[in-house]
Amino acid sequence: MNAGRPHPGRFITFEGGEGAGKSTQIRLLSEALEKAGHAVLQTREPGGSPGAEEIRSLLVTGDGDRWTGMTEVLLHFAARADHLERVVRPALSEGKWVLCDRFVDSSMAYQGVAQALGRHLIRDLTNLVVTTTMPDLTLILDLPVTDGLARAGARDDGEDRYEKMGQAFHETLRQAFLDIATDEPQRCKVIDATTDINAVHHAIWAATAKRFDL
Ligand SMILES: Nc1ncnc2c1ncn2[C@@H]1O[C@H](COP(=O)(O)OP(=O)(O)O)[C@@H](O)[C@H]1O
Ligand SMILES: [Mg+2]
Repeated sequence: MNAGRPHPGRFITFEGGEGAGKSTQIRLLSEALEKAGHAVLQTREPGGSPGAEEIRSLLVTGDGDRWTGMTEVLLHFAARADHLERVVRPALSEGKWVLCDRFVDSSMAYQGVAQALGRHLIRDLTNLVVTTTMPDLTLILDLPVTDGLARAGARDDGEDRYEKMGQAFHETLRQAFLDIATDEPQRCKVIDATTDINAVHHAIWAATAKRFDL
């Protein structure tokens, strides 16, 4: 059922630190939902639309201090506005399941908390840009920082700006995601990401089935 949602679709976001398994798991959930007969759109942030992908390349490459925190957060929300308007909302209006790799909780954890811009700024920008298009379900993939960085380091995709930021930064991020889950237990589900890929997928499928009565 669609009780309380402003659109006929379903909006699921994947959150967590570098190497937690978000991209892996979004693919698997996408396949499982399609197999069950649902129309799925798989997307990611920053990016997900042509303009937002251009902004993404400004954000994920280069030195850690390439941007000041404020510029960085505004670039993220500029990309998000484009992605929401041109991709996410149209798909939700068509009744699709939209699965997004990172969303506003990453802005909160990375820019709001780890880069210390403050929770208020992120909440204000979220109210302005996201308005009612909040996820119906957010899966927070949790694992020890060293495990995640080891996985991400083995990936070698050139998008390593955040990976280079150091252990303490990533510990702060992990806790920030867990705090969001505590604050918003209806929307967020913490998934133990330390187990093998299949076991994580099963936990995600179970959480999705429960949330949407599948
Ligand atoms: N549960 C898992 N156990 C072991 N390795 C994993 C697991 N999930 C993902 N990986 C591997 O770890 C790396 C990072 O996974 P990825 O899905 O790209 O993470 P993220 O998108 O969260 O950064 C990839 O090489 C992936 O194959
Ligand atoms: Mg990824």
